[in-house]
Amino acid sequence: MVEFIEWSDDYCVGNNLIDIQHKLFFEMVRDLSQRVKSGKRDVQAAEIVQFLNDYIDMHFSDEEKLLREIHFPDLKNHQAIHNEFSKSIQRLNRELYSEEVSYILDKILSVTQNWFLDHILTQDKEFSKYLH
Ligand SMILES: [Fe+2]
Ligand SMILES: [Fe+2]
Repeated sequence: MVEFIEWSDDYCVGNNLIDIQHKLFFEMVRDLSQRVKSGKRDVQAAEIVQFLNDYIDMHFSDEEKLLREIHFPDLKNHQAIHNEFSKSIQRLNRELYSEEVSYILDKILSVTQNWFLDHILTQDKEFSKYLH
C-alpha cells in the first residue's frame, strides 16, 4: 500500500528523466494529501490544476518520445490512456468555478492518487523491461 509519505526507489521505471518527473508528481500528491488530511484547504485548487496541465504536457510528451525510441509495442494503447487522463484533468479544470473547493480538492486527490497507483506504478512499469 502506497502511503504517499516517502518516495521509494521501487517506484522507478529505470529512466532518469521519467523517474524524476514521476517523483515530482508523487510529491505533488503527497503535499496535497497532507493538506487535505490536516484540514488545510487553503490551497489553491486552480494552481494545482494548472500544475497538472503543465506537468501532463511535459511528461506525456517526454514519455511517449522515449517509448517510440525503445519501440515499446503497446505505445498506441499507452498514448490512449494518457489522452484519457488529460481529458479528466480538463474536466476538473471546467469544474473549478462551478463546484465547491473542497469537492474539487477531494476529486483531484483521488484522481491523482489513482493515477499514481494504476498508471505510474502499473502501466508505466510495463515499459521498464524494454529500457536496456
Ligand atoms: Fe509516466
Ligand atoms: Fe505513462
